[in-house]
Amino acid sequence: MNIKTLTCLIGVFGLTQHAVADKSEQIEKGKYLAEMSDCYACHTIEGGEPYGGGLPFVTPFGTVYSTNITPDSEEGIGHYSYQDFYDALHNGGAPGGHLYPAMPYTSFTGINDDDTQALFAYFQSIKPSSQPNKDNDMMFPANLRFGLNAWNMLNLEEVNYSPVTGKSAEWNRGNYIVNTFGHCGECHTPRNIMMGMDSERHLQGAMIGSVFAPNITPAYLNQQGWSTQDIKDMLLHGYSRKGTVVGEMYEAIFHSLSKFDDDDLNAAAVYLLDSDSNVEGKALTFRPDNAQGEGREVYQAFCAHCHGYEGQGKPNYAPSMQGNGTLSQENHFNSVSAILYGIKPQYYTPTNAFYTMPGYDKQLSNEDLMHLLNYLTATYTENSAQLSVEQTKEIRTSVTESQKNATH
Ligand code: HEC
Ligand code: HEC
Ligand code: HEC
Repeated sequence: MNIKTLTCLIGVFGLTQHAVADKSEQIEKGKYLAEMSDCYACHTIEGGEPYGGGLPFVTPFGTVYSTNITPDSEEGIGHYSYQDFYDALHNGGAPGGHLYPAMPYTSFTGINDDDTQALFAYFQSIKPSSQPNKDNDMMFPANLRFGLNAWNMLNLEEVNYSPVTGKSAEWNRGNYIVNTFGHCGECHTPRNIMMGMDSERHLQGAMIGSVFAPNITPAYLNQQGWSTQDIKDMLLHGYSRKGTVVGEMYEAIFHSLSKFDDDDLNAAAVYLLDSDSNVEGKALTFRPDNAQGEGREVYQAFCAHCHGYEGQGKPNYAPSMQGNGTLSQENHFNSVSAILYGIKPQYYTPTNAFYTMPGYDKQLSNEDLMHLLNYLTATYTENSAQLSVEQTKEIRTSVTESQKNATH
């Protein structure tokens, strides 16, 4: 062997080594992006195979099931080209027909080509599953998938997250990940009558199922006194100085948002608070002058032993009511839901567990509930609710209705 073939062999060997390393790095990156995007939670059912699909999504037009996205060539997406995969994520175009927007392509549409390549590489590398897909149960005319091209024309906005001048690298990264992988808007942006996201009211708060996803615009979060650390704690653990999260938000955090690495948590906080410096946040609201009246009596009787006599909470037991994010929401739906029906046991870290919040539907009359809400909001939030019995009854009725729908 002469010296030339030797260097040549080394060259080829070095090259393949490099390509293998590149490929496995790309797959690793794709895995991280898939976790950030919550692909697993939507594409896996309890007891089913990972990414085998079958989770039902109930829409006003019928039920659509998520599909098998493993590389199985019969039931999965083994036959997908990169372009097929790109289209499914970016505009809902799939070889088997147009996808319903229950698949959040309206957010994923902004994912750049590099990251889409990484996701594709990852989904080609996972274990194939032959778990069969389920038939959808959509009503006419929504069952005609070609109608979705028209839906796209009206509701799918082309976005690209090329750097916005005057904004920092963190802010730009935050803008990109919050609105694509994090798909926060799918829950927090109100929908128009066609169920498309209303971009005029981006992240301004919306009802989803039986929970209200609050306003998370920088104006609102800053006004409510959220700090950079609060945002990071909330996304990472599901609780912060501002209390715990429940329902779909807890699920989103548990399966996906908690997987954001520290740089990405930071970027999300910079974007959400629209500030590059570390935001200190406001002191937790407590207005002792308002801590009186019939509402206080109800609070002392039913709530104080867990949430503290002055609403200060108990570490590892119950969150503080002072400046609490849920109580502060302009819509009282989630507070009333917690008070009347409690909160299902939620898992936190072993060192930071909470007790379970019981429900008080049987114990509280409409008057009690009204006094309690008025007391809580006047004492512990910036916006005193001052609800009438009529208004309280209305909220109670809608919470009770949605509870019925959620359990049947
Ligand atoms: C909020 C729930 C949700 C999330 C999150 C989600 N999907 Fe989906 N996805 C769906 C549903 C529902 C469908 C089926 C839609 C239909 O049949 O019209 C679907 C369909 C698909 C399809 C088409 C498959 C086929 O059979 O042709 C692909 C590919 C896909 N998703 C990939 C992904 C990837 C990759 C991610 C993460 C980056 C992801 N999905 C995240 C709900 C979701
Ligand atoms: C046995 C203890 C206990 C009692 C009594 C109790 N709570 Fe709670 N409460 C909790 C815990 C624990 C949570 C958080 C649960 C979780 O998110 O996992 C909570 C959550 C809440 C929330 C949602 C805010 C947040 O940060 O999650 C509100 C609002 C609330 N409680 C109000 C009340 C009111 C008003 C009363 C009295 C009618 C009351 N609670 C009685 C333990 C209790
Ligand atoms: C699957 C739906 C869903 C997605 C996706 C989602 N959220 Fe939420 N979010 C909710 C709901 C519902 C609530 C109300 C529950 C609560 O306040 O505990 C909520 C609450 C919140 C709150 C208030 C928490 C508090 O303690 O007051 C913040 C802040 C928030 N979300 C930020 C985000 C961000 C940032 C993202 C994206 C990275 C996101 N959410 C993605 C559904 C969602």
